[in-house]
Amino acid sequence: MTNATENNMQNGLSFQSRVEKLRAGRRWRQSLVDAQKRIAAPQLIIEGHLTRMVGLTLEAVGCHAPVGSRCLLEGPDGRNIEAEVVGFSGEKLFLMPMERMHGIVPNARVVPTKKVYDVAVGNELLGRVLDGAGNSLDGKGPLQTSERVSITSRVINPMARHPISEKLDVGIRAINALLSVGRGQRMGLFAGSGVGKSVLLGMMTKYTDADVIVVGLIGERGREVKEFIDNILGEEGMARAVVVASPADDVPVMRLHGASLATRIAEYFRDQGLNVLLLMDSLTRYAQAQREVALAVGEPPATKGYPPSVFAKIPQLVERAGNGDIGGGSITAFYTVLTEGDDQQDPIADAARAILDGHIVLSRELAEAGHYPAIDVEASISRAMTEITSTEHQAAIRQFKQWYSLYRQHRDLISVGAYQRGADTKVDEAVMMYPQLTKFLQQDITQPMSLADSINELEALQSVEVISPAQAANLQMPVVQ
Ligand SMILES: Nc1ncnc2c1ncn2[C@@H]1O[C@H](COP(=O)(O)OP(=O)(O)OP(=O)(O)O)[C@@H](O)[C@H]1O
Ligand SMILES: [Mg+2]
Repeated sequence: MTNATENNMQNGLSFQSRVEKLRAGRRWRQSLVDAQKRIAAPQLIIEGHLTRMVGLTLEAVGCHAPVGSRCLLEGPDGRNIEAEVVGFSGEKLFLMPMERMHGIVPNARVVPTKKVYDVAVGNELLGRVLDGAGNSLDGKGPLQTSERVSITSRVINPMARHPISEKLDVGIRAINALLSVGRGQRMGLFAGSGVGKSVLLGMMTKYTDADVIVVGLIGERGREVKEFIDNILGEEGMARAVVVASPADDVPVMRLHGASLATRIAEYFRDQGLNVLLLMDSLTRYAQAQREVALAVGEPPATKGYPPSVFAKIPQLVERAGNGDIGGGSITAFYTVLTEGDDQQDPIADAARAILDGHIVLSRELAEAGHYPAIDVEASISRAMTEITSTEHQAAIRQFKQWYSLYRQHRDLISVGAYQRGADTKVDEAVMMYPQLTKFLQQDITQPMSLADSINELEALQSVEVISPAQAANLQMPVVQ
């Protein structure tokens, strides 16, 4: 064997062993990649089954799913019914359906879904009507939006929130002048049933100056949804509006989602730097939906049948509205609150009053007398008023309220003729002004009134002459309302 061949063999051997080493290394890397893939592969879903159903509450065992996630229940015709996990006790999961349930049988399969629930958002939403789950209700086909965001939103640091500093024109003279609303303020419309909450909310929807309007019709009459869209928003209003409707016959979980969805859509537009008007009719129905869910999973009732979680949910929803970070957009919100039996101490009304930045109380007495909008100016307040109004404007409001309440305090005496003209100059003034005050407070549904005109008209009322007792004695008594 020549030296050259010996060298080649030695080189060949070392070459083969090097190739072998490389192959072993590749196999090892591949096995790591495979192992990684196996770990990343969807985990097995452990199914459970239904063991109990009472009212709208379902109990399932055998499966694990976090609270707030959804499961699919096997329906009778192979159709799956979606249900949300609303609580648990030991190994038992409590579920509530997202749609009406028919034909659910004992031991039906319960399959947890791993779906992450998000909300379709984007300018494509403008002009659309959605249900509580975010599906289209208007027959214009599925939503083709540019973005999807999580249903939960980031909490705004209270120190970073823009303060309320700008007056907002809502188109209603009594509110513009006497209960000025600021951009980013959250107000409640409080009244018993049929006093005019929805009509007033509709007027504000039409006349308020906003970039985008988000309407949440939660737990109210289904008939009102179409009426609101056709008669109040109209084609022009609808072009800059999104409506989320979850009427009274929807299941409670859907009504809760509807309110949350409307707020999330409003938050999205606020985060784009826009001024949003959010209208929710009604906050009471939202609270009642939470009461149904909480009682069904065994939470004890506390005040008037409302469990404590209801009073935690209201601030969680309402606090999401308001101004955004400094330099960002705003959500000015109006929530209607039904005061059952005209009881202003109703627990939901009380909780809402405590968290909102003002309340407009509507009076049945005024509505019955045909005085619309039936705003009770004595009982209503706007908490941002002092920050956004001038001292002259505030003085004019004080004067208006003094005349108004003075007249109403003496109205029984006046109406039976027991009040002697000239006995008190202030009361005489109030008597003289009262017809103008009531005229000022009333407004036709179709007639908007701008902020500047409302304040001018209020200030013009102040130019009343102070009259002498002799002149007062000759005055005609106004008709009592
Ligand atoms: N500004 C108004 N001008 C004339 N009529 C009005 C006005 N506001 C309300 N009404 C009358 O009062 C009725 C009830 O009003 P609305 O539906 O707004 O009450 P509501 O407080 O929303 O009642 P509910 O709590 O039952 O929903 C209306 O159908 C209308 O006839
Ligand atoms: Mg109503």
